[in-house]
Amino acid sequence: MADKVVLAYSGGLDTSVAIKWLEEKYKLKVITLTVDIGNVPDLEAIRQKALKVGAIKAIVVDAKETFIKSFVFPALQADAVYEEQYPLATALGRPLIAQLLVETAKKERARMVAHGCTGKGNDQVRIDVSVGALAPELKVIAPAREWKMTREQTIEYAQAHNIPVSITKTSPYSIDENLWGRSIECGVLEDTWNEPPEDVFLWTRSPEKTPAKPAYLEIGFEKGIPVSLDGQKLEPVALVQKVHDLAGQHGIGRIDHVENRLVGIKSREVYEAPAATILLKAHQALEDLVLAKEQLRFKARVAAEYADLIYNGLWFTGMREDLAAYVENTQRYVTGTVKVKLFKGNCQVVGRKSPYSLYDYSLATYDKGNAFDQSASPGFIHIWGLPVRTQARVQRRPTEWS
Ligand code: ARG
Repeated sequence: MADKVVLAYSGGLDTSVAIKWLEEKYKLKVITLTVDIGNVPDLEAIRQKALKVGAIKAIVVDAKETFIKSFVFPALQADAVYEEQYPLATALGRPLIAQLLVETAKKERARMVAHGCTGKGNDQVRIDVSVGALAPELKVIAPAREWKMTREQTIEYAQAHNIPVSITKTSPYSIDENLWGRSIECGVLEDTWNEPPEDVFLWTRSPEKTPAKPAYLEIGFEKGIPVSLDGQKLEPVALVQKVHDLAGQHGIGRIDHVENRLVGIKSREVYEAPAATILLKAHQALEDLVLAKEQLRFKARVAAEYADLIYNGLWFTGMREDLAAYVENTQRYVTGTVKVKLFKGNCQVVGRKSPYSLYDYSLATYDKGNAFDQSASPGFIHIWGLPVRTQARVQRRPTEWS
């Protein structure tokens, strides 16, 4: 009897061709797994397509809530942004897809899993490494890494095997999307001098076409997790979706990044991350209010480490757990409300408050009610400047102008 393989299936050209290819090349029975982590259009159509192309079973899983609660929010609490630009939407989705591949393979008694990633990107690393961490006994097959077909040859293969190829829907770009963001590469974007044409953007309006008036939004956080919008409590997925819609209308979240891939190449990637852009900014603004200077500085270093780790496919590691534990502890007072102003592609923080705010009006004010003892400053400055004066006395070089 033929072995079974569980294939992560998007419904696109490559993974559809992979169904047939796995059958032909490895004589496998293919079970497809389509994971909904947001913004997947017609899931039933995808399921039917898998069966039509030849899958023996087509499974669809709604993993939106797990994605937001267990992957996106921990990354938000960490302020994880790769190379200070990319909020890691695709990178956060991959370990979850790997986890679901493993769970499905166990349920279906399959000894293999497969995915449509090519051999040039980060995603193959993230899925292979994650599967290896969760179920080292499973074999991973990546057809697109093996078959060495060009795009034209892949289309020919599809046509020869009666796999529907919708030329109109086949975009010149390679796209991955979920609730946290949309990644767009290839086509004219491969020339770093080309301005991204308007047709790469689907979620965000061009700032030229956004409303003439700003919108305000108040985001409530509890322990670093967004829980309400304009005072209304919302479930995680609904909250992210609502921020997504509003941000998109105001053209917020377009990112144009020349990034350093794990496999050593630079790649030009355009992102639309409307919800992520706003929530990350608001979250950091609240942290600025409630965390001490040293906590903020150290946490920023952890954020960079954490972002690298997510980008590099190391979600299921001890290091990730350690960083997550640190981050979670930092969030115990990150409770409060942040007011943002959305206008013409910009998200500006215009107000913040928290019961745990370290901002002390009576210390900061220059008006009456000032509680800061200015007469103590000369003594402080005297001691602070002591090593400076000592060194200057012994080692000072003449300045150029003296
Ligand atoms: N460069 C991003 C990452 O490595 C996105 C990868 C997927 N992008 C795509 N356009 N298919 O996480």
